[in-house]
Amino acid sequence: MTIETCFPLAIYYEDLSDAPQHQQSLIDAVLELEQAGAERRNYPEMAWTGDLHGVEQIHTNPQFAWIVAQVERHTAIYLLELGVDLTKVDLYIQRAWPIVSRTEQEIGAHCHNTAHISAVYYIKVPAEGTYDPGRLVFFNDARVNEVSPGLGSENTDIVDADNYLNQLYSAHIPVEGRLIMFPAKQRHAVTMNETEELRLSLSFDIVLTATATAAGEYEFLTPPPSQWQKFRL
Ligand SMILES: [Fe+2]
Repeated sequence: MTIETCFPLAIYYEDLSDAPQHQQSLIDAVLELEQAGAERRNYPEMAWTGDLHGVEQIHTNPQFAWIVAQVERHTAIYLLELGVDLTKVDLYIQRAWPIVSRTEQEIGAHCHNTAHISAVYYIKVPAEGTYDPGRLVFFNDARVNEVSPGLGSENTDIVDADNYLNQLYSAHIPVEGRLIMFPAKQRHAVTMNETEELRLSLSFDIVLTATATAAGEYEFLTPPPSQWQKFRL
């Protein structure tokens, strides 16, 4: 018997070799921004996320120049691996923000609907011991092997042999200094930080558009923002 699998989800990661040199300055910058951010807007059991608190443009902040350069470089490598012709597209960081997760805080399931690629960088991760530092979980919403829709859902759940052909999610343990990238439309969450330590990360939303010269050729590629016209109402 042979079972062939196809259509894999491509999750890219790289452990950045010069991460230790930049760790402390990034920790200081993030905690400072958290302090200066807007009044808390989400529930206390949710991690503090800069995108909800007016701290969503760290890509323009010189304190983050090193990691921004890393994101740009590795996004290009990721896209080349996916077979994208980089001469036809421009890449933008649309939004970027810090995340501070304290004890028993998590991030609920979501997609980055306004972006194309999402990147996460782990500045500081609690040491893995008895307690979970909070994992990045990707959900298998496509469920291509669920032959009867709903078979594996909570209300039915008659799949009694969990294996890689019916897995509903994959969980990634955070690693300090790791940059991870995935399609922004992939639904994901971060499980609870069960440790007593801080867990600090950065999130980047990246967008692809056509270049100015390629703009008139591709129907399904967003034209470059330089060609947009704002309403003059
Ligand atoms: Fe996210």
